[in-house]
Amino acid sequence: MQAVSGHAIWSSRFAFLMAAIGSAVGLGNIWRFPYLAGANGGGAFILVYILTIIAIALPILITEILLGRMGKASPIMSMRRLISAHGASGLWSIIGWGGTVGAFFVLSFYSVIGGWAIHYVTYAATGVFAGMNGDQAGALFADLTADPATLIAWHTIFMAVTVFIVAGGVKAGIERAVVILMPLLFLLLLGMAIYATTTAGFGEALRFMFDFRFQDIHPSTVLAAIGQGFFSLSVALGAMMTYGAYVDEKESISSSAIIIAIADTSVAILAGIAIFPLVFTYGLEPGSGPGLTFVTLPIAFGTLGSGIIVGIAFFTLLSVAAITSSISLLEPTVAWAEEKFTLSRVKLSILIGFGAWLLGFLTVFSFNHLAGFHPLAGLGLMKDKTFFDIFDFTTSNIVMPSVGFLMAVFAGWVLSSGVVAKALGAEKAVWFPFWRFLIRYVAPLGVISIFVANVLLPG
Ligand code: TRP
Repeated sequence: MQAVSGHAIWSSRFAFLMAAIGSAVGLGNIWRFPYLAGANGGGAFILVYILTIIAIALPILITEILLGRMGKASPIMSMRRLISAHGASGLWSIIGWGGTVGAFFVLSFYSVIGGWAIHYVTYAATGVFAGMNGDQAGALFADLTADPATLIAWHTIFMAVTVFIVAGGVKAGIERAVVILMPLLFLLLLGMAIYATTTAGFGEALRFMFDFRFQDIHPSTVLAAIGQGFFSLSVALGAMMTYGAYVDEKESISSSAIIIAIADTSVAILAGIAIFPLVFTYGLEPGSGPGLTFVTLPIAFGTLGSGIIVGIAFFTLLSVAAITSSISLLEPTVAWAEEKFTLSRVKLSILIGFGAWLLGFLTVFSFNHLAGFHPLAGLGLMKDKTFFDIFDFTTSNIVMPSVGFLMAVFAGWVLSSGVVAKALGAEKAVWFPFWRFLIRYVAPLGVISIFVANVLLPG
């Protein structure tokens, strides 16, 4: 990154792309996507997921990067500037606030799951996976999640690394790490997917992932798919807005966003192809929940001749992918605090990271001491949910769609067509009217109708 006329920009378009792909590709693709697809009937979920990425999450990703580039500051400050520049109501500042607070909450549980990934590197390295069957892999995961001290230890390490990178300034280190490590992760995942095609459950997995029956599509499936689209593309919590603030005026936001979406979606699908054949080969339950990835892949590493090396490499790269995502969850709050307080970036990163770390304890205990505790038991939708389930569900299925909805309406209805076209550098682009139609009508109405459907037809 370099300072140009007082405002920092990425050193190249490639650098921005790498940081944005680093943010998008993470636990969302390899941990969250497979377990949600598994729990929501497979094919129906995956089809709806891809459709809503194209119609909702991608148009909003373009919008979010654009709002960041127009505001050139933290999400909260960018929104404040856009509001005053365009004479909009102060209420729109909820986009900045909602996103920033949401990112802080996601960071709190993301760090705990990231800790699992790092811990699994040590399992892989000590040969724990060798010859494991499904029950043993399940027991290994259950033992880890039953042990709060170990979870806290790895959560602490994960958060410390995140804080360390953010304190030093996101752009410096990240460019180089992402350029090499993301393609490596992709190749390794491709290798795992190819291996999975040779297992007995491959055919069943393909049917599970790609056959869909309309009767499997419930309002809750669609809401989960929309939420996962936002989560996976890092949309609607200000992360992409923060990164967008450093994008050079001359660069095409739309083509970058399309590249980010394609990279992100391919990693998720590839993760599914690597995981589901093993699920069926070893008689596991696709709907078993957040442990799915951590229970299935070790079985594969345990059967491979070079399983120790592949296992170490895989979980190391997964940890790196998670870190390049978590820094984008911490960055919006730190960017805001830097504008607001006189403390140094280092101190602010530590303070905010500490807060998210503390909040993470509720996620840690959701898997053991508080596993049976349902804090919002009186509230229909939330009745069987632990703290972790509530954070995960509320951020992805309520906060992200709501903030995304507001971003779309703000850029589609509050800002004029001329202003937006000029800011995008798309006055003559053929796709511009199409994108505008998506953010004016399709994305907002899609989100609203799925909210309404979930309230009217829960379950
Ligand atoms: N997209 C990341 C993943 O898939 C998670 C993430 C990082 C995120 N930054 C975000 C999600 C901002 C929502 C908003 O793992």
